[in-house]
Amino acid sequence: MEHVVLSREESRAKREAHRRAKPPASLPLVYWPDDLESYTPTDHTREAYERAASWWRGLPERQALKDYVPVDREGYGQGLLLSGPYGTGKTTLAAAVLLSSWFNGRTKVMFVRFVDLLEANRPQQSYIRPDGLEDVSDIERAHDIVKGVRETDLLLLDDVGRGKASEFAAGVIEDVIRGRYLAGKPTIITSNLEPDEWKGRYGEGVADFLYQAFADIVYIGGPSLRGR
Ligand SMILES: Nc1ncnc2c1ncn2[C@@H]1O[C@H](COP(=O)(O)OP(=O)(O)OP(=O)(O)O)[C@@H](O)[C@H]1O
Ligand SMILES: [Mg+2]
Repeated sequence: MEHVVLSREESRAKREAHRRAKPPASLPLVYWPDDLESYTPTDHTREAYERAASWWRGLPERQALKDYVPVDREGYGQGLLLSGPYGTGKTTLAAAVLLSSWFNGRTKVMFVRFVDLLEANRPQQSYIRPDGLEDVSDIERAHDIVKGVRETDLLLLDDVGRGKASEFAAGVIEDVIRGRYLAGKPTIITSNLEPDEWKGRYGEGVADFLYQAFADIVYIGGPSLRGR
C-alpha cells in the first residue's frame, strides 16, 4: 500500500479526474464528493477536523517502508477513532478523510457500517432458507464485505457500538481492529462509545488495544447537527 500526499495542483487535478469518475462503490452517496478540502467545520467540529486532517497528512510517513521494514514501527497501520454523541458529525468527517485518500488515488478505500459487518459475519448455515436452498447472492455479498474489510488499504468502519452487545460482536470488532493493525492497514472508526465504554461492551483486551491501533482518538462533542 502506498499513501501519498500530493501538491495542491496535483491533488486538484486528481480530484477533478475522480469527480468525473465514480464514487467508491461502498460509499453512501450522501457523503459524495466532500473531502477534507471541501469540508466546512462547525465550531464543535473544528478541533476534530484539524486532528483528522493531521492524521491523514501523517499517513505517508506512518506507512513508509524501507527495505520492507516500517520506518515508524509504532505508527505503522495506526488508525483514527472518532467518538461522541449522536449527530455531532462523526461520519461526515470520517467520510471526508476517506474521500481525500480516494481522490489522491493509489489507495483502495471501503466504507462499511458495523451492523452490516456483523450481518456479513453470521454463520453460513443461517443463509439456508425455509425451502432448504441457500441464498447465493446474500452469501456472495457477505463474502465481499468480509474480504473487503480484511484487504482494503483504508477502511471506514461506521458506528461501532450500534446493535446488540454480544460475544459475537466483540469477536468481530476485535478481529477487525487487531487483524488490520497487524497487517499494517489503517482503519477509521466512528462510534457513540467513549473509549472507557469499550471495556464493558467488548472486553478489556480490545479496549486496551485501541491505544495501540489508533494514532489519535478524537472526541466530537456538542449538540446534534441534525436540524430539529
Ligand atoms: N461540518 C458540518 N457542517 C454542517 N452540517 C454538518 C457537518 N457535519 C455534519 N453535518 C450534518 O449533521 C448531521 C449529522 O452528521 P453525521 O451523520 O456525520 O453525525 P454522526 O456523528 O455520525 O451521527 P450518529 O452518531 O448518529 O452516527 C447530518 O445531517 C450532516 O449532514
Ligand atoms: Mg454516524
